[in-house]
Amino acid sequence: MLFDENNLEITAKTLAGLEDVLSAEIERLGGRDISLHSRAVTFFGDTALLYKANLHVRTALKFLIALKKFQVRNDKQFYEQCLDIEWESFITPNMTIAVDSTVNSPHFNHANYVALKLKDAVVDRLRDYYGGRPDVDVNNPDIRLNVYISGEDCVISLDSSGNSLHKRGYRVSQTDAPLNEVLAAGLILLSGWNAETDLYDPMCGSGTIVTEAYMFAAGIPPGNFRKFSFMNWKNYNEALWTRIKNESKAFIIEPQVKISCADISSKAISVTFRNLEEIGIEKKIDVRRRDFIKAKPEMENTTLIMNPPYGERMDDEDVEAFHKQIGDKLKQDYKGNVAWVLSGNMAALKMFGLRHAKQFILMNATIECRFRKFELYEGSRKSKYNSDPD
Ligand SMILES: C[S@@+](CC[C@H](N)C(=O)[O-])C[C@H]1O[C@@H](n2cnc3c(N)ncnc32)[C@H](O)[C@@H]1O
Repeated sequence: MLFDENNLEITAKTLAGLEDVLSAEIERLGGRDISLHSRAVTFFGDTALLYKANLHVRTALKFLIALKKFQVRNDKQFYEQCLDIEWESFITPNMTIAVDSTVNSPHFNHANYVALKLKDAVVDRLRDYYGGRPDVDVNNPDIRLNVYISGEDCVISLDSSGNSLHKRGYRVSQTDAPLNEVLAAGLILLSGWNAETDLYDPMCGSGTIVTEAYMFAAGIPPGNFRKFSFMNWKNYNEALWTRIKNESKAFIIEPQVKISCADISSKAISVTFRNLEEIGIEKKIDVRRRDFIKAKPEMENTTLIMNPPYGERMDDEDVEAFHKQIGDKLKQDYKGNVAWVLSGNMAALKMFGLRHAKQFILMNATIECRFRKFELYEGSRKSKYNSDPD
């Protein structure tokens, strides 16, 4: 078995386009031998690093620990390899389990069937060892296992996080189409905002961007308000976890910059307020009902990060006309600031009439998006940036 508490092989799963920022976060925490993959970063570290990663990393969805890697061509081989893992080191019969599976192999047609085989092997081994078996609970299991098969290569892992890490615990209310919290944190890190200048989201919806921005600026760990699956493992080191959690409190500070947001919808304003209230930061962020197209707030040297509506309930013409209005507004009233815009509608983005200085390609659920930076220069420089050729 690969599981060595001092040298765990850890895979962090993430959203497409966030691999670089995730890798940088892991490096800052002390991850070793980091390598990047599509929607994942693998690295090595000890149990303390695993606990810290779950608590502190903003752009990971999960941290999986490799237990066993092998070559496999059929069900029987798969079952036997799985039976050979010392499940009794992590799981007792009174726990509940669930198995997630990703399979891309000519030898196995159904991911669910593979998950079922792994579950059978775990149950059979524990029944032999303890005389009792764990039950399955797909929604809220104590222990989550993961199987990944690509061709003949198979990896069996323990999921140390449990519920996806985007579930921070503050979203108690939501508007339509809120951003995934991990994506919102990714936008903040990709923008390079360093919490030394003000930040404004003029179309805040459920308030995800400002909540993530405040937690980042204040040094509040994204995992501060939730639990993790590793806490259910038989070998859980509670003293180590308590020390890591307590140490993190020393780094929480009062941000010295203004973080604010607005939305045209009164529902969005109350949803945002409710979410901020959940983690006690409702007085730290200025939230206003405001039409971006009509309002003229005074701000300079501010980073705007926004995610305008791009088509859910508007037809294409309306979306494009609205984006033209956003572009005009940015040019007229936001000189001296920087705007980052996430949009999945390329035609609409072109209507901005602004040349972007930088862009990242990201996935927002199933929609491929551009996250573009617009530098809104004062005075004569703006004329260099008045068209977007692509
Ligand atoms: C895609 S949602 C933003 C989701 C948000 N980023 C979140 O994570 O919840 C777009 C938001 O823009 C708001 N909106 C649309 N037109 C607006 C306008 N003219 N001024 C301000 N907000 C507007 C909508 O009410 C909606 O909440």
